[in-house]
Amino acid sequence: MRIGILGAGGMADALGTQWIRAGHEVMVAGRDPRRTAERAAAMGARPGTFAQAAAFGDVAVAAVLAQAAPDVLEAAGPALRGKPLIDVMNAPGVPDRYDAAQPLAQTVSRLTGAHVVKAFNLCHVDVWRMTPPAFDGRPVAVPLCGDDPAALEAARTLVSDLGCTPLHAGRLDRAALLEATAAFVIGLWFAGADAQAILPPLTAPAR
Ligand SMILES: NC(=O)c1ccc[n+]([C@@H]2O[C@H](COP(=O)([O-])OP(=O)(O)OC[C@H]3O[C@@H](n4cnc5c(N)ncnc54)[C@H](OP(=O)(O)O)[C@@H]3O)[C@@H](O)[C@H]2O)c1
Repeated sequence: MRIGILGAGGMADALGTQWIRAGHEVMVAGRDPRRTAERAAAMGARPGTFAQAAAFGDVAVAAVLAQAAPDVLEAAGPALRGKPLIDVMNAPGVPDRYDAAQPLAQTVSRLTGAHVVKAFNLCHVDVWRMTPPAFDGRPVAVPLCGDDPAALEAARTLVSDLGCTPLHAGRLDRAALLEATAAFVIGLWFAGADAQAILPPLTAPAR
């Protein structure tokens, strides 16, 4: 499929490179045409403006700093309306200044009219560079929150193309929980804790 990534930073590079390897066509978009062109060339992607990437993609991906998202989505323009849009962003200030009163994915949905799916926000960019992202032979599971069946299907394909396991995690109104989870576990990791150790395995008694 054609994937238009709004962003030309680390997440655009990591995910876009994986999707190009899987045979998709990718356009990345950033503020600075020269930096964007360099990034695109290194990935084997096409460079574009935010509006060009929005129009290019069968699927769009929002991968900019969240505080820049309103301006970037406005620059992307009407092409996003009705289109699958994967939102990988975490809230500004994660983890210390996370504000649960400002859910991101639903704001993206409201601003664009796109079929938003929240995904890929829980793991560090370096995990998304792994081929495949797996630990001890277990592929990383990627929770997906969204409302539109076709957009969810596209997101499942793009998760599988990384070698990860798509995990249905509810409707878009639950994306706020994914954003809160990111703030919570990133806070634990920054403090040097093993966030995975806080939960019992699935096979534990009394679950
Ligand atoms: N890094 C991670 O481990 C990770 C993991 C999961 C989710 N995320 C989320 O993914 C998103 C992208 O993260 P990243 O690591 O790719 O960040 P990054 O490498 O810093 O790239 C950020 C992107 O946002 C653009 N940007 C920043 N300020 C902007 C502005 N005022 N107007 C327009 N564009 C602006 C940058 O453009 P320029 O190139 O022109 O500066 C760049 O394309 C963030 O929301 C982040 O929370 C990150």
